Amino acid sequence: MEVFREIQGLRHFLSAYKQQRKSIGFVPTMGALHQGHLELVRKSMSQNDITVCSIFVNPTQFNNPSDLEKYPRDVDADLAKLEKISCGVVFLPDVDEMYDKEIFVNIHFGYLENVMEGKFRPGHFKGVGLIVAKLFNVVLPSRAYFGTKDLQQLAIITQLCRELLFDIEIIPVQTVREPDGLAMSSRNELLSSSERPQATDLYKALLFAREKLIDKESVESVKKNVRDFFESDSAVELEYFEIVNTDDLQNISDIGEAKRVSLCLAGYLGKVRLIDNISLY
Ligand code: PAF
Repeated sequence: MEVFREIQGLRHFLSAYKQQRKSIGFVPTMGALHQGHLELVRKSMSQNDITVCSIFVNPTQFNNPSDLEKYPRDVDADLAKLEKISCGVVFLPDVDEMYDKEIFVNIHFGYLENVMEGKFRPGHFKGVGLIVAKLFNVVLPSRAYFGTKDLQQLAIITQLCRELLFDIEIIPVQTVREPDGLAMSSRNELLSSSERPQATDLYKALLFAREKLIDKESVESVKKNVRDFFESDSAVELEYFEIVNTDDLQNISDIGEAKRVSLCLAGYLGKVRLIDNISLY
């Protein structure tokens, strides 16, 4: 496995693949790798000649400095996991390698960045858009892999590619779950042993809501029931629960004939912020 800390070395290495028209798969991560990330890497390895996984805790996407500080980091363990599954290349830049002292570029995503996650994490998607655009320009991948757990991120990056004309195929990969249903996330590591079992409430609420919507209960009533559940029966402090069109994240008030519908929520368990979503069908 090749490990690069500098853009120049990585570009030089990948240029040989480009010249031979070999496909490059790319999996951007912030490290603290779990099975969900490894699934992205495996998928990329199965579809491309070479796979690059980046590990970079991107400061510009954290609106809360203590969240950035607390973000789990274990580069040695990450490298061992990637080596074990035979990932080809790891890109491990530091902040100075990725950012100038002053940042002038500011990417707006309109309403896509203001709903759900964006409402509670102002500026988050500007930071995600900026770093992903930079990483795409360094790696120049044929395909890039993103988990559907971050549904809004996926919509933002799809839009980024469309508008900035990146010639990259964005491949969504299904959320990987723990046996009790909790969506895998680097943040799960921050849960205490007493919090960990309670974290499944997010998935339980999503399954409950899906069942009710399939039984033709109204969107309004399902939303109220979910909010009531978190208020009275759960240790999770709900931030939002939305029922949206999967592609443009617009709120849906009546399921009607809608085909691509996602149920999305976020909440705090103690100091740990968790998100999850499932699709209706
Ligand atoms: O999903 C993540 O881990 C990050 O948001 C990403 C895409 C690597 C950008 O920093």
